[in-house]
Amino acid sequence: MIRTISLVGAWLIASGATLVQADSSFEPANFNVTAALKGYGVDTSSIPALTNLSKRSTESACLAACASLESVFGSEKVLDQENTSYTTFTDAFWSEQQAEVRPSCIFKPSVNTDVAIVVLLSQLTRCPFAAKSGGHAAFRGASSSPGGITIWFTDMNEVSLNEDHSIASIGPGNLWGRVYKALEPYGLAAIGGRESSLGVGGFVTGGGISFHSNLYGWALDNVESFDVSLFFAPGVKCTYLRPI
Ligand SMILES: *[C@@H]1O[C@H](CO)[C@@H](O)[C@H](O)[C@H]1NC(C)=O
Ligand SMILES: *[C@@H]1O[C@H](CO)[C@@H](O)[C@H](O)[C@H]1NC(C)=O
Ligand SMILES: *[C@@H]1O[C@H](CO)[C@@H](O)[C@H](O)[C@H]1NC(C)=O
Repeated sequence: MIRTISLVGAWLIASGATLVQADSSFEPANFNVTAALKGYGVDTSSIPALTNLSKRSTESACLAACASLESVFGSEKVLDQENTSYTTFTDAFWSEQQAEVRPSCIFKPSVNTDVAIVVLLSQLTRCPFAAKSGGHAAFRGASSSPGGITIWFTDMNEVSLNEDHSIASIGPGNLWGRVYKALEPYGLAAIGGRESSLGVGGFVTGGGISFHSNLYGWALDNVESFDVSLFFAPGVKCTYLRPI
């Protein structure tokens, strides 16, 4: 039995599964978004979609944000509304309330720094974003952003074990069924969801009641650490301190 799990991946500090307006009170007062993007190798002056941002409506801000994502990451990583995979994605939400949401685009990050970049572009353009792990919520905007950017963690789906098999590192793109399958050959399980299609993100950040909770507590009680991507401070790693 794994009593401690470590979630790696791009955990957005506000919440893994909540619609977040890119407007933060925790970044430094003199924070320079353009310079921060430069730090990640993104030169905003070379992206045509980013000219005249201050004059834009939310709709055109999001078109600019999505066009910028496509400039930086290529069409492999960005689904626009014209892409046939777009409706496959929206139709796959558990609830109708979420399936009806039409984000301006869907972005699939591969690594933590991709998440930092999308958050910075959201901030720069004022286009809101939401993040989807499993998308198992019943209300509009929970993990898909109406008119904004929906960050889909599907490509960040690592499941690995540490050397003594006491800690699993689980990327936010995982559903619990996939995690259990990966751990089963080792005779292990995690304090995870009671339904295989639940995502690890919202489940763990929301507390997480498991079949094993009577013995081991909630999923969150068993998290060893979170790997948090702080968009305003590249390279900084945050550790969640487990309550005793
Ligand atoms: C922010 O950073 C950019 C790029 O490094 C620079 O050109 C710009 O002058 C900076 N803005 C402020 C207000 O410091
Ligand atoms: C940006 O604004 C300037 C000044 O208003 C204008 O000359 C220019 O054509 C605009 N560029 C775009 C891409 O809209
Ligand atoms: C649709 O998105 C996929 C990435 O999931 C990309 O490979 C493909 O080129 C896109 N198709 C179009 C027509 O943009």
